[in-house]
This record gives sequence, C-alpha cells and structure tokens, in this order.
Amino acid sequence: MASSQLVRMNQGQGETSYARNSSIQNAQQNRMKPLIEAAIVDLCSSVNSSTVFPRKMLIADLGCSSGPNALALVSIAVEAIHNHCLQFQQSPPEVCVLLNDLPENDFNAVVKSLVTLRQSNKPLVVTGVTPGSFYERLFTSGSLHLVCSSNSLQWLSKAPEHLTRNQIPAYDIDENARRERLPMVHEAYAQQFRKDFTLFLKLRAKELVSGGWMVVSIIGRPSYVIASRFFHLWEIVAQILSVMTSEGAIDKEKFDSFYIPLYGPSCQELREIIQEEGSFSIREMREHDPKTDYDNTFVTPSRFLNHLRAIFEPIIVEHFGEVMDEFVRTAERRWSVEGSMQDGCARNPRVMLVASLAKA
Ligand SMILES: C[S@@+](CC[C@H](N)C(=O)[O-])C[C@H]1O[C@@H](n2cnc3c(N)ncnc32)[C@H](O)[C@@H]1O
Repeated sequence: MASSQLVRMNQGQGETSYARNSSIQNAQQNRMKPLIEAAIVDLCSSVNSSTVFPRKMLIADLGCSSGPNALALVSIAVEAIHNHCLQFQQSPPEVCVLLNDLPENDFNAVVKSLVTLRQSNKPLVVTGVTPGSFYERLFTSGSLHLVCSSNSLQWLSKAPEHLTRNQIPAYDIDENARRERLPMVHEAYAQQFRKDFTLFLKLRAKELVSGGWMVVSIIGRPSYVIASRFFHLWEIVAQILSVMTSEGAIDKEKFDSFYIPLYGPSCQELREIIQEEGSFSIREMREHDPKTDYDNTFVTPSRFLNHLRAIFEPIIVEHFGEVMDEFVRTAERRWSVEGSMQDGCARNPRVMLVASLAKA
C-alpha cells in the first residue's frame, strides 16, 4: 500500500524532475496572488480589529516540493508585506518563512534557493524548512500568521483503508467490474479526503494566531462532473499500467494492490467540509479552469509524459520496481494516434479550487 512517504515528486534538475516539469502548476500559483495579497493587507492593517500590527510574522508553505515553485507563494507574501509597508510608511515586521514537505522531498535544492529570499532583505526575512506531514502538527500553537499551499492537499495521508484492508482493487482491469465498483471506490476516497482535510483544518487552526489566514489551492473536479469519477491523472496512469498488466509486463496481483492516494473534491464538497469543521470562515472561494493557463498545443505526448513522471515516478517505482522504460513505451504507443492523449485528458476534466480562509 502507498504510504505518505512515497508521494514525493521526482527530485533533482533532470529532464523528468518536478523542478523542470511544473510550469503548469506555477501558472496556477500565480492565480493565488490576489488572495495572498489580500490576506497580507488584512494581517498588516491596523484597522483590522482581530490583529494588532505584528512586529514578527511567520509564513509557511505546506507541500512546497522543489524547484522554482517552492518559493513562489512565500515570495508573493514577502513582496506584499514590503509593498504594504512602503505604501503606509510602516516599518516592516521581521518575517520568518518556513517551507514544509515530506522528509523525502529534495530539501537540499530548496535550502539553496531559500538564500535568494534572505538576500532580498526587504523586510528582514529569516528562512527554514519544516520536514513532516501536514497531517501532523508542524508548528507551535498560535505561531503562524499565514499558511499557503498549492497543488498539494489533493494528496491523501494514505489510500482508503476500506480498499487496502479488503484487497479491493481501485482500478479493475475488467471494464465492467471497474464500472460497477467505481461508486464504492469513489466513496472510499471521498471519505478519506473528508477525514484528512478535516484533520488538516484542525491542526492549522491550532497553529495559526487569532486572525491568521490560509490561502490554499487544490486540484479538484468541476461541479458539473458527476461524483463517481476517478481523479484525472490517477486514471491516466492506471490506464497505462493496466495495459502493461494485460501484456504481462506487470503482475496482476501487484497491479490490483496499487493505490494512488489522490482525491479531487468538488468546490461544494470542500465548502461543506470547511463549514462543518468550523475553525475557519470562507472569505473567498474560486473555481478555475487550469486549461486557460497554458496553450494546449504546447502539451505534446513527450511533455505530458515528463509531467506524469515528475509526479508519479517515485510511487510507481516503489510499488512495481524498475518499470518506467516500459511505462514510457506503453504510453507512447497509446498516444501515437493523434488526439488520443487529449481525448484521455478531456474525459476527466479538472479544476483548480482556490480558497482563502480566515481563522474564525
Ligand atoms: C504537486 S506538488 C506541489 C508543489 C508546489 N506546491 C507547487 O504548487 O508546484 C505536491 C507536493 O505535496 C507534497 N505532499 C504530499 N503529501 C504531503 C504531506 N502529507 N505533507 C507534506 N507534503 C506533502 C508532495 O511531497 C509534493 O512535493
């Protein structure tokens, strides 16, 4: 079974690394900019009755990964503090920036890039990393002012136990069996997401100061898509692996016990969980089509494969061993028919959900 240890992205600077294959995610991070800026204005604003202008601010990015995106959100926040203080002629607070991801993340690369943030020196910025799962306590109580997270909270703490314990395959090779089981599989994933996201909210509510903010983005499914669908990239990966299984390159039992701990909620689902948990008030929630952030003709099969490998290679190799060459060949064969890759993606549309939350 996949544990949270395995969901890290491909490390380093190579052709299939996350660092070199995350420009789509970066475009999505830029969509969060106005919400982060608004949170900073509220935190720095002396008219805000719930916070006194802080002399020190602690800002964290949860699920930072490595590469240029690791610093993107915290850089927006630091710049917003700088601009706000310039505009209102306030002396800037001292800022501590902490970047979190799982311990297996490429923190070596992250630490080197953190230096650039310190050198900007406007305001005083000290930096650090906080390895660990965001489904555990990461910071001391009442210490954080702003939590950011992009493209990470769709990763669950684990695959649903109902499936793993009862050895129920998430993606049956037989199409009829798969279709019949899909609502149950989907419900198991939805329950796991509800449990995990509720815990995430509770933990962060303990760690945030009164009047603190969270700005998060999650890859989800559009409201118009019926609930019982697979997470889009999960299905594309599973399809390739199932072809490899049918052709004997992968053992069927091994395939049946493969679960990717990913779930894409709808906007409504997210809203309900936040409201039910009760620690945060929703200040803004947006649903955004990620396709508008990039030119579709730019996404060739080889680029898309690198994108998939950057995200899923560690979890695939951990479970199946050295199968990536065959994975690439199978995917290339599958997508050699013009438009087949685009069709696969279109069958499972996704949205980026962005939420700006203030601690209630
Ligand atoms: C797709 S990357 C997103 C990276 C970056 N925030 C971005 O927007 O490009 C998802 C990151 O979440 C991290 N992640 C997944 N589960 C996590 C957990 N439980 N705790 C901390 N990080 C986690 C993964 O290791 C990975 O680096």
